Amino acid sequence: MSWPVQVLLMGASGSGKTSMRSLIFSNNPASLTSRLGATIDVEQNHVRFLGDLILNLWDCGGQDAFMDSYLSIQQSTIFQHVGVMIYVFEVETRNMEKDLNYYKECLSALQRYSPNAAVFLLVHKMDLARGPKAETLARKTKELKEASEGTEVTVFGTSIYDESLYNAWSRIVHILIPNASVLSRHLAKLAALCSATEVVLFERTTFLVIATSTPPPPPPTASNVPSGPSSARTNGDLSATSHSDHELEVDSDPHKMAPTRYERTSELIKAFKYSCARVREEFNALEMELPEFTAVLDELTRNTYVLIVVHDPTIETAALRMNIRLARPKFE
Ligand code: GTP
Repeated sequence: MSWPVQVLLMGASGSGKTSMRSLIFSNNPASLTSRLGATIDVEQNHVRFLGDLILNLWDCGGQDAFMDSYLSIQQSTIFQHVGVMIYVFEVETRNMEKDLNYYKECLSALQRYSPNAAVFLLVHKMDLARGPKAETLARKTKELKEASEGTEVTVFGTSIYDESLYNAWSRIVHILIPNASVLSRHLAKLAALCSATEVVLFERTTFLVIATSTPPPPPPTASNVPSGPSSARTNGDLSATSHSDHELEVDSDPHKMAPTRYERTSELIKAFKYSCARVREEFNALEMELPEFTAVLDELTRNTYVLIVVHDPTIETAALRMNIRLARPKFE
């Protein structure tokens, strides 16, 4: 994918596009989003993400008059050179038929002008879903996939009130990171050096998850010895394994195995950063020493933070911070 990457953020008026943009990229809390006015036409933002990667984020106002204009006179401007289209649907929309009609028209314009663009669909405001969340999302996903008529789309359920928004956006930006597998390899080495149980790499401004490490499965015992070839451990192309006494697997798709607790961490740190800003303190690093584990969150490069979690009580936070400092040149 060429750089910078154009990201289209589309969907009906009031579906929550500007709110999510302000939460993820401007570090505003969810409580302030109700004050946001409707977006007039297209609001363009250039977001520097991981240094070299620049996201040209086009937040397209969703009022009918604007949508009609994007799909007629502005079509070649809006849909040209798009890397990713994110289309937002309100989970309890009052007019799904109209939303789907606009979506289908946008999808067909996208296919005409940017046939290689990735498409992500967000079923947003999941906190307002009337039925059980999982069932509602499954039903919506089916409906949206049918409306996409064979185009490959990825659907997420999101809400600004929990970590689901970070999960979706981490996955979206992950496909844009050019050197994700290299980052992962270095992360595996760092994890092994620190005897860490877990290492997570976050982008600095957004705190979106870039890569994670996960501990190896428990050593085989009489009761869990694999039987037969189907239980062999395999890594996908993008995953890297470090070989040491303390082996850790790192997967450059942080979500293939990772639960959303990583995104919960993003959410909590962002809230903490916001609190620091309110009392005019700058957030730099964080250390936690608890009986069960030790955790250090520190700046790794100009664009990233790393979180290292160890369960070995003999390992001191100073040692972890020194390892982070020594690892910096590898990640720059
Ligand atoms: P246009 O600019 O007109 O296209 O609208 P928009 O899609 O940018 O909507 P906006 O972000 O302005 O959000 C509209 C309202 O939805 C605001 O009052 C937000 O607080 C609210 N909102 C956004 N996300 C969520 C969510 O996840 N849950 C709930 N309950 N409300 C949300």
